[in-house]
This record gives sequence, C-alpha cells and structure tokens, in this order.
Amino acid sequence: MLSLSRVHFGKTHYEVRKLGEGAFGESYLAINKTDADQFRARLYKTDRSRMYAELREQLVAVKFSLQQGNPENDGVGIENEISVLTEALPPEEHPRIIKLYQCFDDGHIAWLTTKYMTGGDLGDFLELYPEGIPESFIWHVGYQVAAALAFLFFGAIVSNGMTAQPSANCVCHGDLHAGNLFLGPAKTDGTGFGNYPEIVLADFGEADWYVSREQAPDAGIVDFLGRHVRDVHDLNIVMEELTNAMMAGGDCLARDSMLLNVIDRLGTIRNTGPRKVGKQGLLRALVDFMSIADTERRRLDNPMSENAVALIAANKVSDDDLEMIFCRSAGHSRVKKSKLDQTARDWRVTVAW
Ligand SMILES: Nc1ncnc2c1ncn2[C@@H]1O[C@H](COP(=O)(O)OP(=O)(O)O)[C@@H](O)[C@H]1O
Ligand SMILES: [Mg+2]
Repeated sequence: MLSLSRVHFGKTHYEVRKLGEGAFGESYLAINKTDADQFRARLYKTDRSRMYAELREQLVAVKFSLQQGNPENDGVGIENEISVLTEALPPEEHPRIIKLYQCFDDGHIAWLTTKYMTGGDLGDFLELYPEGIPESFIWHVGYQVAAALAFLFFGAIVSNGMTAQPSANCVCHGDLHAGNLFLGPAKTDGTGFGNYPEIVLADFGEADWYVSREQAPDAGIVDFLGRHVRDVHDLNIVMEELTNAMMAGGDCLARDSMLLNVIDRLGTIRNTGPRKVGKQGLLRALVDFMSIADTERRRLDNPMSENAVALIAANKVSDDDLEMIFCRSAGHSRVKKSKLDQTARDWRVTVAW
C-alpha cells in the first residue's frame, strides 16, 4: 500500500526508481513534475538527448515515512531526521553533511528530499568493488567522516580553527555505518583529494542533540556525550571494515602500517568513556585523528582505479527510466485533496566553508 507521505509527494514529483528501504522509510529517486514537464515540452521534439541530460541534472532523492504519525516512534525516523536537519544544524550547507532540499512534516505526512549522491552508499560500494580500495582511501574516509563529526558535535570547521562553537547544538548521529556514508564524484575545484569521492554523512533518523534533551534537564553535557563517543567508535568500525576489505583484496602491507595502530587509538576513546574524555578531549581526538589521516592519505597517495571513479560518478538512471516517468499517472484521487495541498518547505543555503 502507498503511504500517505508517498501519495502527498506524488502530487508534485515523479518517482524514477527505488534507492533503498530502512526501518522507518523508503527512498526513491524523483524529479519535480513542473520542471520535468517543462523540459519535455521544450526539448522532446527538438533535442531528446539534451532533454534526458537536463532531467538527470534535476534528480533528487526522497525519503518517505512509512509510519502514519505514530507517536510511539517519536525521536526516531523521518520526522526526527527533519527536525535535526532543520532545527539542530545551522541552515548553511556543510560539505560533509547530506544536503537537504525540501521537507514536509504535518504530523501525519513526512518526507524529505536530498541531493542525489551518484556513488550510492559506501557499504554497497564495498560489496560491488572491494578491489577499489587503496589504503590512502581508508585514511580519506577517516579524515572526511571525522570532519563531519567535528562539525556535527561542536560546530568545528577549518575556518574557525577547528574550535568548539558555543552556538553548536552537540548533534550526535546515532547510526554511523558504511550504509549511511554516501559517495559523490571527486571534487575538481581543489577542495577534494585526488580522484577520491566525496564522503557525505546521511540518514539522521536516529540523531539527537543536546538542547532537545528536555526529558533529562539535569543531565549535563558530559553524560550526553556517550552517544558522541559511540559515533567515534562507529567510525573506528567503518575503518576496520575498509581495512579488512582491502586486505581481502590482497594488499597486506597495511598490516604493518600505522593504520591499525591509529584505528586502535580511535577505538580506545570508547573504553575511556565520555566522563574522562569530555567535550574538549573528544574534539582534540577528532582533530588529532584528522591530522594523522590527512598526512597519511597524502604520503601514500594511491589513486583510485578509473573504473571505480567512473562507477561513483555515473548517474545510474537510464533514458528509459526517465521516459517512463511521463507514462505513469498519479491516480491517487481517493485521498482527501485538502490534506495533500499544503506545500513543502525549501531548505539550505549554499556557502563556501
Ligand atoms: N541522497 C541519496 N543519494 C544516493 N543514495 C541514497 C540517497 N538517499 C538514500 N539513498 C540510498 O538509500 C539507502 C537508504 O537511505 P537512508 O537515508 O540511509 O535511509 P534508511 O536507512 O533510514 O532507509 C541508502 O543506504 C542509500 O543506498
Ligand atoms: Mg540508512
């Protein structure tokens, strides 16, 4: 059965194909109907290949809530993801955090659209392409995910000297694994690293933030940091997974390298616990780790194979997929019109970090 959220979204968008499914929602590739119809009217007869190219440029990922306003799911799922991305994080785009375009949540219907990351998630990439992992790529993932966490936890970015910002809401992710790290094509403007994909942290369905903890007003920030420590530990696990995949691919040199040592060190934060490590200690661990990771990725600097680069950059939607969207009719007339007529919120402004 179509969820109400999916029907609501279908009023303004065409669905192109399914991307994934989780405990609280389903993700699809989609395109705004007005934009798509305009491209079709303008280019269908005159320049069909340009029409497909323009349509591909407009694709977004949408995630629908499967639950119909179930209060028992408060604090997790798409409604939670929307409030974290729109209330806890600053509205400016950050390169390591999934870019939110639009969202809708009226208590019954909830969906959000994000930038389509052509490389999919790191978990799928590892399965499809285990031989595509050079050691310096593991450091690259570590560096970029640690940068995402430093921003998420403390608002620390390069331009503020990687310092904790008093205005930051101490957001923790709560579900960090390879399936929630999305890959985009290598940046060519000098802000990326070699031909490596951009790593973006996504899926904030289980995220939380300090000021939202009204239910535990006496708990101080140090108590709350347990979930942040777990995020760091989860990054450690992702790096271990990547290392294992690389070793299975035959490059056993890493066994003697710094990699395992540093991964280990990251893991010990978990054992130290939030009380001992504290806010500054956690930020320092992330910043120290970023510095080692950056040095190592530069020292090793093995490029990713051209096949892997092409796989990540390829927009995986065919001309036929795009043609099909115009053949499907919405046909959701049984749902009350008034319920579906409210409009979504646009989100995120672009700034340079
Ligand atoms: N913006 C996106 N770009 C590329 N793939 C996506 C995007 N959003 C979702 N996906 C795919 O769908 C899967 C599920 O999406 P996710 O946001 O992790 O939701 P959940 O795990 O809660 O279902 C992801 O692991 C990824 O493979
Ligand atoms: Mg997920």
